Amino acid sequence: MILKIVKYPEPVLQQPGEPVSEFNSELRKLVADLFETMYASQGIGLAAQQVGVAKRVAVIDLSQAKDPAQKLVLVNPEVIFQEGKQYEEEGCLSFPDIREKVSRAAKVRIRAQDEKGKWFEMDGEELLSRAFQHEIDHLDGMLFIFRMSALKRDLNLRKIRKMQREGKW
Ligand code: NI
Repeated sequence: MILKIVKYPEPVLQQPGEPVSEFNSELRKLVADLFETMYASQGIGLAAQQVGVAKRVAVIDLSQAKDPAQKLVLVNPEVIFQEGKQYEEEGCLSFPDIREKVSRAAKVRIRAQDEKGKWFEMDGEELLSRAFQHEIDHLDGMLFIFRMSALKRDLNLRKIRKMQREGKW
């Protein structure tokens, strides 16, 4: 089912997610809905907070549904190692039309559970590393606009307020 994606400043986006302890049909339904909702909006990652659910669940698919092997389910994920720096443009489905460069680690290793509860580790570089960090941030209630420089953040917050006033947000 395609769910509504909530936009900033909806409070749930800044609410840290509850850890998942039950790997049941409700979780499988949430994961399926996250993929469906993400694909419908041409995203490459989506966190549960973005559909109004404060749980530590996110999905990533850099292939945008073209390669099933790239579908990633991250339950209770954490970064366990990081190195280097990258500074590239990011967007977020909860911030339509906002794209800005954000500083991130170049490489990360994450540890997470799949939808059955099995733990795994995975390395990411470049775009995948950025997607891991962006989605894990969401699960902590952290948004990419607060990773921007103060100047860029203020410019974008003003842009959002203007769009809100004009009914375009
Ligand atoms: Ni996002």
